[in-house]
Parts: sequence; structure tokens; C-alpha cells
Amino acid sequence: MKKSPALVIFLFLFALVLLISCSNDRAEKDRQLERRLEQAEKKLNAFCAPKYQQSLADIMLSIQSRHTKLWYAGSKANWELAAFEAEELEESLEEVGTCYDQYDGLPIAHLQETLFKPSIESLVKSIEAKSVGEFESRFIDLTASCNSCHQSANHSFIVIKEPTEGLFLNQDFNAHEKK
Ligand code: HEC
Repeated sequence: MKKSPALVIFLFLFALVLLISCSNDRAEKDRQLERRLEQAEKKLNAFCAPKYQQSLADIMLSIQSRHTKLWYAGSKANWELAAFEAEELEESLEEVGTCYDQYDGLPIAHLQETLFKPSIESLVKSIEAKSVGEFESRFIDLTASCNSCHQSANHSFIVIKEPTEGLFLNQDFNAHEKK
């Protein structure tokens, strides 16, 4: 079949455009890859990097702070703050389970799942129900579950209790109208 010169030129131009757009795509993909590498490199050097992974005891110290703040907020019916602290506490303990599945031969992830999770879930319900009485009972149960884990993990000398106000004096735990 004989092709017309116009068709040949058209096909040639079409192929050229296709080639250019492919190489543009490629350059864009390269740029994206470069950006992702840069991000990954930054993360490697940031505080969230594995080399800075906190010890379990250090994570527990921040869990202890949240436990305290949760109590202050819930007992003052500051439900927004209580919900925030409860969520952070739940997340921290979930991460403990993920990062320290087995610790010193102890089944930490399993203990977190069976002892702690049910009690934080009930506590969250009491926050949703906005009941101080219910919150306080669930908080006592939650504290007992912290101690059950310490006992099961051969750390029964670490005993947690409901806090009395005297920590975090630089934070107001009362609920305020939104500004
Ligand atoms: C899944 C098990 C588990 C649960 C649940 C748990 N802990 Fe712990 N906790 C541990 C273990 C294990 C250690 C000891 C870590 C070590 O030996 O480095 C510890 C240590 C601690 C310490 C000592 C840290 C220090 O350096 O003084 C505190 C405080 C603490 N936990 C608070 C809490 C609080 C508060 C809760 C509940 C909100 C809680 N823990 C729930 C397992 C648990």
C-alpha cells in the first residue's frame, strides 16, 4: 500500500510528540522519585528515625503523663481534652504492642491486646456518654489494667494510681467555651 506524504509526515510528527511526552513523563517520575528519596533521607535523620527509638520505659513515662492528664480532663468534664488524651494513650499502647511485640521474653503485644485494650475502649465510651461518674469508674478499671500488665510482665513493683492534682500546673484542664 502506498502511503501519502502527508500521512507519513503526520505519523512522524505523532511519533515525535509521543516520544517527547514520554520523556517528559519520565523526567516528572524522576523528580517525584528524587523528592521521595529526599523525604526518606530527612526522616532517617529526624527524631522519628529508628535510631532514636525510645526504650519501653521511656514510652511508659509519656504514657504515665497522658494517664494523669486524662484523669484531670475527665474528672472536670472536659470531654474534648479527655477524648484527645484517651486517643493518644490508646495509640501509644498500640505502638508499644507493635514495637515491643516480645520484650524480655514477655508477650507485650498480647498483654496489651487482652488487658489494656478492653479497658480503654470502655473508658472511651464513658467519655462519649459525657458521664463523670462513669468516667471515674472506668478510669479506675483502666488503672487496674496498667497494673495487671505490670504484674504479668514481672514489674509488679510499678504501681499506678489515680493522680491527685499537682502535676502539669502549667495547663488548664477545665473545659472552656470555644473562642
Ligand atoms: C502491655 C503491658 C503494659 C501495659 C498495658 C502498661 N505497661 Fe507500663 N510498663 C510495662 C513494662 C514491661 C514496663 C517496664 C519497662 C522496662 O523494663 O523497661 C513498664 C513500665 C512502666 C513505668 C515505669 C517507667 C519509669 O521509668 O519509671 C511506668 C510509669 C508505667 N509503666 C506506666 C504505665 C501506665 C500509666 C499504664 C496504663 C495507662 C501502663 N504503664 C500500662 C508494661 C505495660
